[in-house]
Amino acid sequence: MRKYPPLPILNRICTKEINLPTINVCVPEGTLITIPVLGLHRDPSIYPDPDKFDPERFNADKVKERHPYAFIPFGEGPRNCIGMRFAYVQIKIGLVSLLSKYKFKLHSKTRVPITFTEKSMTLLAKDGIYLIIEPR
Ligand code: HEM
Repeated sequence: MRKYPPLPILNRICTKEINLPTINVCVPEGTLITIPVLGLHRDPSIYPDPDKFDPERFNADKVKERHPYAFIPFGEGPRNCIGMRFAYVQIKIGLVSLLSKYKFKLHSKTRVPITFTEKSMTLLAKDGIYLIIEPR
């Protein structure tokens, strides 16, 4: 969810003019805002060595050190994802059911590192992801 957030950007519209003090930029009402979720999730100043998959980044003490919006795969605020809890449960059940029965290996047809297609709103591998799946 950090390295490959299904929605790599979020959109908002500014409803009230605001001066952003840290960068001294005035954002007028009506401005279309694009929030770079993938960019935040791979920002090395937030996640050092950002391409490394390291679940320990999400230990409670590490999470506390970061801004709460440094990880936003389900968005944030009053219009965030209403399916977040359901999605987490479903993903965990799916992973446990599959990984307890099968072994997964990357097929040589899969391009590494993955590149993403520009033709999709969601994060999608350009040339697909091929796996070898064997029973345990
Ligand atoms: C891995 C799975 C999922 C991801 C990564 C995801 C991600 C997101 C994101 C990023 C948004 C926009 C939030 C924002 O702009 O702040 C969103 C909105 C939404 N999601 Fe999900 N979602 C997932 C699964 C689900 C599921 C399972 C459901 C329903 C059962 C769902 C229902 C919705 C709805 C209805 C909205 C619109 C909420 C609104 O505009 O008020 N999502 N989701």
